[in-house]
Amino acid sequence: MINKRLIGMVSDSKKQIARNVAFQWVALVANITLILTVARYLAQLAEGKSASLAGTLLIAAAAILVRFFCAKQATRCSYHASRSVKQVLRKAIFEKLLRLGPSYSSQVSTSEIVQVTVEGVEQLETYFGSYLPQFFYSMLAPLTLFVVLAPISLKAAVVLLVCVPLIPVSIAAVQTFAKKLLARYWGQYTALGDNFLENLQGLTTLKIYQTDEQKHKQMNEEAEHFRRITMKVLTMQLNSITIMDLVAYGGAALGIVVAAGQFAAGNIGVFGCFAIIMLSADFFLPMRLLGSFFHIAMNGMAATEKIFKLLDLPEPAVQSGIIDPEHCSITCSDVRFGYTPEREILHGVHFELPQTGLVALVGASGCGKSTLASLLSGRINGYTGSISIGGQELSNINSASLMKNITTVGFSARLFKGTVRENLLLAVPTATDEQMWQVLEQVKLADFMRSQQGLDTMLSEKAANLSGGQCQRLALARALLHNSPIYIFDEATSNIDVESENQIMALVHELAKTKAVLLISHRLANVVDADCIYVLEHGEQKGCGTHQSLLTDCPTYQNLWNSQQALEQYNTETEDALA
Ligand SMILES: Nc1ncnc2c1ncn2[C@@H]1O[C@H](COP(=O)(O)OP(=O)(O)O)[C@@H](O)[C@H]1O
Ligand SMILES: [Mg+2]
Repeated sequence: MINKRLIGMVSDSKKQIARNVAFQWVALVANITLILTVARYLAQLAEGKSASLAGTLLIAAAAILVRFFCAKQATRCSYHASRSVKQVLRKAIFEKLLRLGPSYSSQVSTSEIVQVTVEGVEQLETYFGSYLPQFFYSMLAPLTLFVVLAPISLKAAVVLLVCVPLIPVSIAAVQTFAKKLLARYWGQYTALGDNFLENLQGLTTLKIYQTDEQKHKQMNEEAEHFRRITMKVLTMQLNSITIMDLVAYGGAALGIVVAAGQFAAGNIGVFGCFAIIMLSADFFLPMRLLGSFFHIAMNGMAATEKIFKLLDLPEPAVQSGIIDPEHCSITCSDVRFGYTPEREILHGVHFELPQTGLVALVGASGCGKSTLASLLSGRINGYTGSISIGGQELSNINSASLMKNITTVGFSARLFKGTVRENLLLAVPTATDEQMWQVLEQVKLADFMRSQQGLDTMLSEKAANLSGGQCQRLALARALLHNSPIYIFDEATSNIDVESENQIMALVHELAKTKAVLLISHRLANVVDADCIYVLEHGEQKGCGTHQSLLTDCPTYQNLWNSQQALEQYNTETEDALA
């Protein structure tokens, strides 16, 4: 239960723990002084000797004062120790997440991170603030008391000292069981959190398909499992506390019985008898307290394992390559990639994106277009073959430089709760209002924003107070503000109104005059003007060229084109028929 790695991480806490133990020990010495003084006074009275009440009261008052002061100081130390632990660990987790980068979610779920960082770290408060100091103090205290009581009655002192280790023995007996139980407890806790987050985020979808009731039942079942395991944990804790109580108070009683026997046999006097009776409970109380901290600390230990699992996740190596915005044409050759080793998704893709111009990537759904886009923007890694940006291999390029120079606009833009200004400033924190209005003009959102509260217009969560087309145009405005030399549009106009789609497409074409633009679209009508179109099928490249050349040379493209033409014709015919 002493986690060296954890303690090593927080050296400041070590000092606080040492001070805490020292203060508790001084408090114990004050307590012993108090009891011995009172015992001596009572013994003097019993033996009919003259006793100084004032002197006794003075010493007692001083001892009580010292105890009070030390207890306060120990609490302070405890607070400082747990505070710095929380700071250090949360900082470590946060920095780890930054180093893991955008692909963190392939290794760990978001809700697990949230639970471990908030609740998990909180659990360590008791471990550092109470358990660890108590661990050392509960060994120091019985030894100190033994040294004091041994000269009075060696027999009683030995009996008391021998009984004390029964408490840690009973703790050790439940430890293996408790460890397994708590690991399961935390596993269920994070799993429940995962599902809760997912269902909450997808509540609208669940409502639409009327499966919310079913999910509700499922979550009730999970919650019931969690309740059961929580009750098991509590039962285990309560039972082991009962055993510890039996040992502690039984041990103290035994000490008293021995003292009474010694007194009856005339081996000790009133002073000795009183001192042993008063101090015997103190032998056990520290261990008993350790036992009750133990279970909370165990919980913290289970959380620590999760924290270390997170901190130990392999990180992408930090690369030193920097993209030169003036020379950043992209060349892919024989790029192969699979999310898992068993299943290759891209089977040798060749591809050129010049410094300026519009290049399109088309293919049926699931053929690997977004996968290629994610590789280019560094959101996933681990490809074979070569992806060179301005002559440098992508895997050697620093991820910050990649983010700075490649802007991706996907089909569902991530807009944050807050003002339009805040959302735009994400792209360029130093952007002026004028620059922001300029990009809003470009995406034809300026009039709408002016009719609202301008740049201070509030967006609700997931920008639910804007239409899909408006969201996408705002995301585009933010992307334009970012002003990077390379842009990737991945189905940026899916699921939005035709007017917004046309406006966005016009801007994409405009942008391609000065930037390198990769346009991924399932609607071929959007890509006919591209300088070059690459056709993918099942992760394999089936052709490249202009629209006209592909129509004659590439059967895959012909098929895609013909089926879409037929579909659009069908749509217009049905519209005509309805009209
Ligand atoms: N994160 C992922 N993990 C595992 N497989 C994935 C992941 N993302 C996509 N895939 C798989 O990769 C293939 C290509 O997906 P994708 O590149 O998204 O296709 P699209 O051409 O429609 O954009 C699909 O078969 C999909 O199942
Ligand atoms: Mg896709």
